[in-house]
Amino acid sequence: MDGATVASLPLLDRRQGLAFLGGLALTGCATAGGIAPAGAAGPVPAAPGSLAATASARGRRFGSAVAWGRPGADRGSFANPAYAALLKRDCTLLVAENEMKWQALRPAADRYAFDRFDAIMAWSDASGMVMRGHNLLWHQDKWLPRWLFSHSFGTDPAAEGRRLIVDHIDTVCARYGTRIPSYDVVNEAVRPDDGGLYDTPLSRAIGSAEATIDLAFRTARAAAPQAELVYNDYMSWEPGNGAHRDGVLRLLRGFRERDVPVDALGIQSHLVTQSDAADGGAAALTDDWRRFVDAVVAMDYRLLITELDVRDNNLPADPAVRDRVVAGYARAYLDVMLAYPQLRDVLAWGMCDRYSWIEGFEARSDGAPRRPCPYDAQFRAKPLRDAINASLEAAAPLPA
Ligand code: G3I
Repeated sequence: MDGATVASLPLLDRRQGLAFLGGLALTGCATAGGIAPAGAAGPVPAAPGSLAATASARGRRFGSAVAWGRPGADRGSFANPAYAALLKRDCTLLVAENEMKWQALRPAADRYAFDRFDAIMAWSDASGMVMRGHNLLWHQDKWLPRWLFSHSFGTDPAAEGRRLIVDHIDTVCARYGTRIPSYDVVNEAVRPDDGGLYDTPLSRAIGSAEATIDLAFRTARAAAPQAELVYNDYMSWEPGNGAHRDGVLRLLRGFRERDVPVDALGIQSHLVTQSDAADGGAAALTDDWRRFVDAVVAMDYRLLITELDVRDNNLPADPAVRDRVVAGYARAYLDVMLAYPQLRDVLAWGMCDRYSWIEGFEARSDGAPRRPCPYDAQFRAKPLRDAINASLEAAAPLPA
């Protein structure tokens, strides 16, 4: 990290003290029955000048994904001081990028591995941040652990499928209790090409995808009655998402008809620029998108932006051009979204280009490194950060 950048971070003294406590927490406060709650410092106010402070002045919150890493490793981790400084500079909300997923948390049917998520949770508590849970069930074959595909579901597969899900959700929710006030209970259950629901070994055993998803929410409500329960998906405002959006609306309508306890839609918001116009082509997308979001809130769902980042497609390699258009595109999107009083929380899927998932999943064809996050690979603030700040600043205040 650029020394001047670090020095200029407007951190509160209290936060620095808490960061130290967070370091201590890393040395191991996990107990047999859970994590020692003694590290929890309670919420701290957003740092002056931060995105979280701008959000907070309007009754909103800003946060980011964070990863686990060994102390000092060059990762988007709380244990990387350069990345931790960005989190403390701008965020009051956190979400673990991977460490709460079944693949990370459940190495075998009868075994859980909480070490990495516990370390993130301890740092979050010690830093006075609020943690979101992502996720209790990623309803897709591709993202479930391999052992599930050779698991013996026995003579009553439906009962065993239900047992695996209930045990998972009960175990996670009991461990973290009220320290996690919001969960992505089910993630990405809708097929983007036709809007139908995916099947997985669990839903095949239980007999239907719908029953499996409903079970996850009902179990989460019972296990974490205080928590906000979210269905999280990536249907976006770009062209080509119509079937996905329709499928999500069908699912949300079904929840209401079946009285399934779902409080909010998590709109991931992995945005993709459409053109090199100043707004990245956003103007052409807003009407359709508003119709979708209007339909969601008309069913009495709250909204969250859970995974904001921007892919700079259809743009020249010049970083200055890309940063400008990405910022204009995100500004237009956030202005539309923040006009909804149902939207309080905005989370970036990582604060720093250096650690973004996008490079590994969808590199640019010209080889120019992606620039999807509010800070560049050298930890310098980019126009995207200004755009987020400006949009939060322009948002109508929500009641406290
Ligand atoms: O940790 C292992 C490492 O030990 C191994 O050597 C390496 C080799 O591939 O893999 C590492 O795991 C990777 C993990 O990220 C941690 O870096 C997985 O392969 C890789 O699949 C995983 O990707 C994550 C992906 O979800 C799948 O879980 C991305 O980091 C993460 O950003 C992405 O996040 C998703 C959200 O959960 C849901 N919405 C979409 C979003 C972006 O795809």
